[in-house]
Amino acid sequence: MEAINALHFFPTSKPNRSSLPTSKLYLKPAQNLLKQPNIHRVVSITTPEPSPMLDQNHRPINITTNSNPCNDQLQEKIQESVTAYWDYQFLFVSQRAETVEPVQLQVVEGEVPSDFPPGTYYLTGPGIFSDDHGSTVHPLDGHGYLRAFKIDGDVQYSAKYIKTDAQKEECNSETGEWTFTYRGPFSVLRGGKKFGNTKVMKNVANTSVLKWGGKLLCLWEGGDPYEIDIENGHLDTVGIFDLINRHHLQPEDVSPGGVNQISEDAKEVSGDGGGGFWDFASGVVKPILHGIFKMPPKRLLSHYKIDPTLDRLLTVSCNAEDMLIPRSSFTFYEFDSNFKLLQKQEFDIPEHMMNHDWAFTETHYVLFGNRIKLDVPGSMLAVCGLSPMITALSVNPNKPTSPIYVLPRFPDKVKSNRDWTTPVEAPSQMWVLHAGNAFELTDQRGNLEIQIHAAICSYKWFNFHKMFGYNWKTGKLDPSFMNARNGQENTLPHLVKVS
Ligand SMILES: [Fe+2]
Repeated sequence: MEAINALHFFPTSKPNRSSLPTSKLYLKPAQNLLKQPNIHRVVSITTPEPSPMLDQNHRPINITTNSNPCNDQLQEKIQESVTAYWDYQFLFVSQRAETVEPVQLQVVEGEVPSDFPPGTYYLTGPGIFSDDHGSTVHPLDGHGYLRAFKIDGDVQYSAKYIKTDAQKEECNSETGEWTFTYRGPFSVLRGGKKFGNTKVMKNVANTSVLKWGGKLLCLWEGGDPYEIDIENGHLDTVGIFDLINRHHLQPEDVSPGGVNQISEDAKEVSGDGGGGFWDFASGVVKPILHGIFKMPPKRLLSHYKIDPTLDRLLTVSCNAEDMLIPRSSFTFYEFDSNFKLLQKQEFDIPEHMMNHDWAFTETHYVLFGNRIKLDVPGSMLAVCGLSPMITALSVNPNKPTSPIYVLPRFPDKVKSNRDWTTPVEAPSQMWVLHAGNAFELTDQRGNLEIQIHAAICSYKWFNFHKMFGYNWKTGKLDPSFMNARNGQENTLPHLVKVS
């Protein structure tokens, strides 16, 4: 998840507050907020019960009654687990109030560093998880809630929902009542129409926020960004900012040195790339996704990059049908500081991949080949509305390695004859979630070395059906739901179920 709510500082009941992380800032009195100050929680929180713990070998220890002998160390573990469980719940507290007029946060511990760079810092992330009709959605389907922290010695805070089309449809602006009608790709709604409910994709602008070219944009993985008015200081939503299609590259638009075409070389693929059949399948699937499920032909990935050396904004899109067919088409865009498109390149890769993040260096783009496949039983359930649409996919462990594609950023300047269609195969099954950084070094023999810093997890540990602990059968969020339970994963890190 990209962010947590800023208003999570008010636990309504246990655990022991001394065991919780200390918040350093809090809001001034609630009269500054809109009505509905009640905190609506995703789950009904009860006192956690002691339950499976792990021993030193990461094997579960069952603690079933209070009469079991517990030593101090074990009690400490329980306390830590209880705290972890509660922390998890606080990550997903719905926030119905908006803070339209900025309020000053008070420092309750420590101080704001005097050399803290002044400015306004923005944060977006899901703000609402439960509606007023019994539906709980996956955190990734929570409507984007934009927060601004204006820091200049003091800290001024304001927050508002991004008024996306879906938000305006699902939230009554007069009463504040929420009624979820879109399933979202990760959620199941309670009641309502299941089979044939094509309202799947909802752009909630909750994945990342970007200030560039005098504009503030809230992005979503799957559609266009929403622009926010930063002139009036009230976080008002301007509307969709069509980053991809508003720019049709024209020769006169190209800056000197820019690459003004989609590289024909880059469109070549190793092998046959699926060839004619997948072209046919793509032609069948594309109008269905666009016409019925309202998916844009190209969808942005969540994460953008800034190249400070060239002062460029870099983004990537992939094709909507890439989710369903075993090949992927990625288009990389580079904009100047005024959103002028300087270059774009398309790379067709004969793999069924799912990418949330990526990386770049001075001369290359880096894509991590997270391998996926269609899950036929999951697809059937998803189409019937009995499981989230994402259950139509699963991680594909059919190869023991993980491909990393190193793609030429400036093909015209490439000196080596390296074939980009051949990936570097990392020696284990690693699902790459986020890339922290990537950079180039030259070794003693003059060879290019690219170092990548990324957050990864084992394919065994990554499960589309259990992400974030969202249990669509119960509508609850439980971190232990993510535990691997097939008997062979005792050495994996385990979250501990305490309730
Ligand atoms: Fe992310």
